[in-house]
Amino acid sequence: MQPVISVQNLNKTYASGHPALKNINLQIHKGEIFALLGPNGAGKTTLISIICGIVNIGDGQVLVGAKDIRADYRAARSQIGLVPQELVNDVFETVWATVQFSRGLFGKKPNPAYLEQLLRDLSLWDKRDAKLFELSGGMKRRVMIAKALSHEPSILFLDEPTAGVDVELRRDMWEMVRRLRERGVTIILTTHYIEEAEEMADRIGVIRNGEIILIEDKTTLMRKLGKKQLIVQLKQPLSAVPGALAGYPLELVDDGHALVFTFDAQREHTGIAELLKDLDRNAIDFKDLQSSQSSLEDIFVSLVRASA
Ligand SMILES: Nc1ncnc2c1ncn2[C@@H]1O[C@H](COP(=O)(O)OP(=O)(O)OP(=O)(O)O)[C@@H](O)[C@H]1O
Ligand SMILES: [Mg+2]
Repeated sequence: MQPVISVQNLNKTYASGHPALKNINLQIHKGEIFALLGPNGAGKTTLISIICGIVNIGDGQVLVGAKDIRADYRAARSQIGLVPQELVNDVFETVWATVQFSRGLFGKKPNPAYLEQLLRDLSLWDKRDAKLFELSGGMKRRVMIAKALSHEPSILFLDEPTAGVDVELRRDMWEMVRRLRERGVTIILTTHYIEEAEEMADRIGVIRNGEIILIEDKTTLMRKLGKKQLIVQLKQPLSAVPGALAGYPLELVDDGHALVFTFDAQREHTGIAELLKDLDRNAIDFKDLQSSQSSLEDIFVSLVRASA
């Protein structure tokens, strides 16, 4: 299937000489929620800004719905809605005027019914005649989303959508993002909340120092990370895993001095109790038990720390 966004061999060096992106290759599939994770200054906003045509592309190629963002800027850009990291609003305008104006910028015919539904979905309909400076921070953020969606884009970028947003609004936004996805909108978001990526994303990309260091399906990632290990230090070394324990996912390590039992930490039933009974039944004595576990957060932190 043709990706909705295709980034190939993208490099970006700012005028200051700072190489913000190094050889980025990334494909976004239609209808997915893609979370881009990375520490401050990693290049997330730069990447998004280039795809959205706000920052000049260095070298490489970016296609949005098969349209080249340089050669076919308007056709590429019109498919995209962007909620930027920094709130930029004309504060003396009303909510209604703001979303109407945004839609007009893309040369779309007026569609008050669509905009009304949009404001209702974002719980902003009651505030349609309020001026932006009269709104709370969370409401302003929702106006940014309404603006981004005003021209009915098929791709939505959310750059740190929930930074500084309270728990309830964050949940509401997640709900809204899911509804958009159900309607076929492709969503790319950046976040510093690993929990948000865990909750929302179909795929996760990690960027560090301008380089993409990992792209993985979330379920695959979580399956890998959802595993815990129990290390059974044996009193007497074994030469092989005893046949009576063949039913367990066991590995003999440390020259036969330890058994490693890998289990799914997400499941209620880990099987540890049975394993310990079976060890006892088979007269396998152990001197110690240790457990280890990795979470998405741990992996993220270690990936990012390994910074060159
Ligand atoms: N206009 C600019 N001119 C020069 N350097 C810039 C400019 N914008 C960003 N940078 C630099 O490029 C690097 C990447 O910045 P970017 O804003 O893309 O990071 P980010 O991953 O979005 O970070 P954050 O999580 O803080 O939002 C940083 O080192 C930053 O200082
Ligand atoms: Mg940023």
